[in-house]
Amino acid sequence: MSANVCIPGISGRMGLEITKVLLENSNLHLSSGVVRNINQIPKKMDLLDLDKDKLSSDLSKSIVECDICIDFTRPNYSMEILEICKNNNKSLIIGTTGYSKQDIQMIESASKLIPILKSSNMSVGINLCLELAARASSAIGENSDIDIIEHHHKHKVDMPSGTSLSFEDRIKSVLKKEKEINHHCLRVGNVVGDHTVKFTLQDESIEIHHKSFDRKIFANGAVLAAEWILNKEPGLYNMSDVLAM
Ligand SMILES: NC(=O)c1ccc[n+]([C@@H]2O[C@H](COP(=O)([O-])OP(=O)(O)OC[C@H]3O[C@@H](n4cnc5c(N)ncnc54)[C@H](OP(=O)(O)O)[C@@H]3O)[C@@H](O)[C@H]2O)c1
Repeated sequence: MSANVCIPGISGRMGLEITKVLLENSNLHLSSGVVRNINQIPKKMDLLDLDKDKLSSDLSKSIVECDICIDFTRPNYSMEILEICKNNNKSLIIGTTGYSKQDIQMIESASKLIPILKSSNMSVGINLCLELAARASSAIGENSDIDIIEHHHKHKVDMPSGTSLSFEDRIKSVLKKEKEINHHCLRVGNVVGDHTVKFTLQDESIEIHHKSFDRKIFANGAVLAAEWILNKEPGLYNMSDVLAM
């Protein structure tokens, strides 16, 4: 079955990657990519083999005309996207990170009306590492120090990263007692994303390490999620539902 996809923030780092993957997908079609100002389309958009008629600055119209919206933007804009999807009964894939508690509540409440898949990291590798970290945590987490260490490019706004917070949540979900988990964050150079979870015991340490070489791992995951969410019931889903982990 085929479906139309809208990408707000299409000229962003992730917007461009997702568009490249989408243009090669036979089930999903880009119906509209939203740019901030249609009269100032960023030059980097020329790199894509894309019909310029598919670009728009009209977020509402673009969402109304799609079946699924893929959002990798910023929390404020993302809340606008959520509202329009909710009011027009559209499925939503959320990759944006850095939300407030109130934003998360709004997403949870909207998911009672529309299908939403939210994941702070859409890569297969990180989702596997989340499960490995939970396994390690249930085996040795009570007796070890737990640190989450991450490197990202200097333009990344949120800190700790959404992925680091997902690691913290997953590790804590299997611990029997409250425990402090320390975050160590670097924002340097052009690093796509490195995450290490380190369990330190008295005489040994164990590290679970993931390195992203290319943003296309997130874009592939986002498009896989968009295919998966077609015809799903309203609810809040994550990548482990898609990957059946
Ligand atoms: N879940 C995952 O797997 C994953 C992976 C990587 C990144 N992320 C997250 O995805 C988000 C985007 O990352 P990125 O590196 O692609 O950022 P980016 O390059 O800054 O792109 C953000 C895009 O959103 C647009 N945008 C933001 N606010 C807007 C507004 N108010 N009106 C119109 N357009 C607006 C930007 O337009 P302008 O360029 O005009 O500002 C830009 O096109 C971040 O939260 C990041 O942490 C998630």
